[in-house]
Amino acid sequence: MKELDNRVTLADAAAMLGISRVAVTKKLTLLGIEPIQIRKGNTEVQGLTPEHLRHLRSSRAGTSPVPGRPLVLSFQGCKGGIGKSTLSYNFALRASQYGLRVLCIDTDQQSHLTLCLCGKAPGNRCWYDLLEGQTTLREAIVPWREYLHIVPGTIHLALIDYKYNDRAHPEALFGRYLEEVEADYDLVVVDCAPSLSLLNQAVAYASDRIVIPQTPSRLSFDGLELTINFLEDLHENFEKQLDVRILCNMVEPDELSSIRIISHLSKTYGEALCRTFVHRSQTFLEAIDAGTSVFDYTLKADTARDDLDALTRELLADRLS
Ligand SMILES: Nc1ncnc2c1ncn2[C@@H]1O[C@H](COP(=O)(O)OP(=O)(O)O)[C@@H](O)[C@H]1O
Ligand SMILES: [Mg+2]
Repeated sequence: MKELDNRVTLADAAAMLGISRVAVTKKLTLLGIEPIQIRKGNTEVQGLTPEHLRHLRSSRAGTSPVPGRPLVLSFQGCKGGIGKSTLSYNFALRASQYGLRVLCIDTDQQSHLTLCLCGKAPGNRCWYDLLEGQTTLREAIVPWREYLHIVPGTIHLALIDYKYNDRAHPEALFGRYLEEVEADYDLVVVDCAPSLSLLNQAVAYASDRIVIPQTPSRLSFDGLELTINFLEDLHENFEKQLDVRILCNMVEPDELSSIRIISHLSKTYGEALCRTFVHRSQTFLEAIDAGTSVFDYTLKADTARDDLDALTRELLADRLS
């Protein structure tokens, strides 16, 4: 079993910043940063922590990587098995590697994001306990890795819709709680249950960006339409502007079903369709089984890693420039 690691090699840092390795070394010297030794595969190599990457990025063009409150990005979709947990996990991890301070929130009672990140639930407080007044958000957060924290999921999340179905405004179940830790994070990543619940509505209301993964199967289309209608209701009832992105996942570029679906989604949703497609790859499953992310699973070239890096850059284009 590998240890989940969100530190990167100097070579990866250079690729992430779009500069040469020599240029990275020069910048590190200028900033007085000493690389650390990290283990990648069976070898010890020079590496950088998320905080180092943050310094390197903020030294570029003299801009700060933190424009105000955190960006809230949720993975939604009323169908299960479309990749919400797998993609939110690897996306959140990559964002932390770029030096963003990331808070993951698991709002699905199946707790798959928690399992991907931590192996098992690292605590017994979840969003339900927060609503019940049993904890504050700050107390519920588990600082799992540097710049990669989580409010874990537990089975008690299943009680939320049943107990809180009289809340008049979606803000009451989710968004207002984030204010407590607003200054501590650059990005909040929420993995949602496959449903059209009040909690999902509240998460959507608090989201600056909503990602709906879609697999190349006729069967997942109905789910996409239902989810879009659900979000449009939110728009109509609460006048909330929503930035919805549809993401093609498990794409097989040589298969007719993938080609047809991408073409259909592109015609129907235009700009809302992510330019990045995530290919079907065993690496997603094998990395989770090995207790790591797609960024650490293999040192060889790998589509899953390339796709998730491209997705992170696309979804965070306004934060990583
Ligand atoms: N691009 C992909 N290639 C191969 N398998 C994938 C891919 N994305 C997700 N999976 C696998 O599909 C299954 C369902 O994904 P999951 O993230 O649990 O979906 P959801 O959260 O929407 O229910 C998991 O076993 C996951 O590892
Ligand atoms: Mg899931």
